Amino acid sequence: MIDLSFELDRMLISEETLQSRVKELASQISADYAGQKLVAVAILKGAVVFLVDLMRYLDPSVQLYIDFIAVSSYGASTQSSGILRITKDLDVDIKDENVLLIEDIVDTGLTLSYLVRLLKERAPSSFKVCVLLDKPDRREAEVQVDYRGFSIPNEFVVGYGLDCAGMWRNLSSVYVVREGR
Ligand code: IMP
Ligand code: MG
Repeated sequence: MIDLSFELDRMLISEETLQSRVKELASQISADYAGQKLVAVAILKGAVVFLVDLMRYLDPSVQLYIDFIAVSSYGASTQSSGILRITKDLDVDIKDENVLLIEDIVDTGLTLSYLVRLLKERAPSSFKVCVLLDKPDRREAEVQVDYRGFSIPNEFVVGYGLDCAGMWRNLSSVYVVREGR
């Protein structure tokens, strides 16, 4: 489970920078959904830290519900195959709801584009996507991103919910990982 062939290289986004950007995203979302019901759907497990910070910065006038969805890829671990299996589906029916899908990072875009298609088929009244990190260099599938935290270079990052072989999700800042020696 713990892969010792990787180590932390350098900090890419500090805790302070993350928090102030998450606050900004929360005010945009608060303005867009003021007085409305909103179902925030976080993709497990990576988006959990982002969700719990983001939701605490939302204005109380947003009537927030949260739910979770989990997918697993059939492909190799650091490469998305685009062939996905739902391992935990939503608890709630999102028909006629305002849905905000929350993801930690968009890389090839295969994961998000699959989930967006799947969830839109359930006929929500509105559907938006919020991602903390965007690695635009490796995009293979076009994805809709309505709220974006940071655009980052094509490097493997961990922390703030993101993992490498399950590790480092707990870090408060985002770090670049490198192959150990
Ligand atoms: P995509 O389908 O290629 O867009 O990949 C998205 C998924 O790959 C994310 O949900 C992450 O689980 C994982 N991923 C992509 N890049 C990174 C990274 O730099 N660090 C950690 N996980 C990543
Ligand atoms: Mg993920």
